Amino acid sequence: MRIIRTIAEVRAAVGEAKRGGKTVGLVPTMGAFHAGHLSLMREARKNNDLVVVSLFVNPTQFGPNEDLSRYPRDEARDAAMADEQGADILFAPEPAEIYPDGFATTIHIAGITDVLDGASRGAHHFDGVAAVVAKLFGIVAPDVAYFGQKDAQQVLVVRRLVRDLNLDVRIEACPIVREADGLAMSSRNVYLDPEARRRATALNRALDAAQALADTGERDTGALTAAAGAILADAGITPEYLELRDTETLRPVVRLDGEALLAVAANVGAARLIDNHILRSADRRGDA
Ligand code: PAF
Repeated sequence: MRIIRTIAEVRAAVGEAKRGGKTVGLVPTMGAFHAGHLSLMREARKNNDLVVVSLFVNPTQFGPNEDLSRYPRDEARDAAMADEQGADILFAPEPAEIYPDGFATTIHIAGITDVLDGASRGAHHFDGVAAVVAKLFGIVAPDVAYFGQKDAQQVLVVRRLVRDLNLDVRIEACPIVREADGLAMSSRNVYLDPEARRRATALNRALDAAQALADTGERDTGALTAAAGAILADAGITPEYLELRDTETLRPVVRLDGEALLAVAANVGAARLIDNHILRSADRRGDA
């Protein structure tokens, strides 16, 4: 696996592969790899001739009071893990390579970024994600790019970016990978002390409780979110949001009919965690 730091070099490597008729898969990451990232890399490896993993802690998607400075960084460990999954290139640029002096472009995707994490973290978050993902697509020109479903809203934002700007890349969303006790894998789980780590399992249990209630035939959003909220409250967790929304438009859903995204964000100990399930109404459970 080659570690590449410049846009010119990654373009040259990808260009050569494409001229040879090879397909290119991109896994955009901010490093601090866990099993979720590795599953994206494996999927990319299975389906592409050349696999590029980008490792860039994108400053523009962090707010002034967020964890940019303490975000876990260990490039040597990440490089070894990407290599083990069969990645061909680790593209790990410095911030100035991505955002040179004079960088002045903003990409704002209206509507779907106004809710959930966009409302909690502020508009800068998805503007920053959209800008860096657009740049990575411009630099690497992948045939396919792989994202984790844990960031369900991010997947929708990236799909909209691709559609609205006619970018020639297919987006693959891969399932959430969980610890044995159900906690969704996240680079931020390292912030959890043992007590917070135990409480953090309530997020997935809360989402499960909503599905269990839906399985009894309950469709009312208030009742479903209340069932989830009770599990969080039991664990002493006050969610930033716990909302049932349309899986495509992210509009609020008042009654579960078919499927909908139940998304949660909460601070647990020193970590801000997100998780989600696609809830299915009882009559649709066989469709999963
Ligand atoms: O999901 C992430 O790790 C980041 O938001 C991404 C897509 C790599 C953009 O910085």
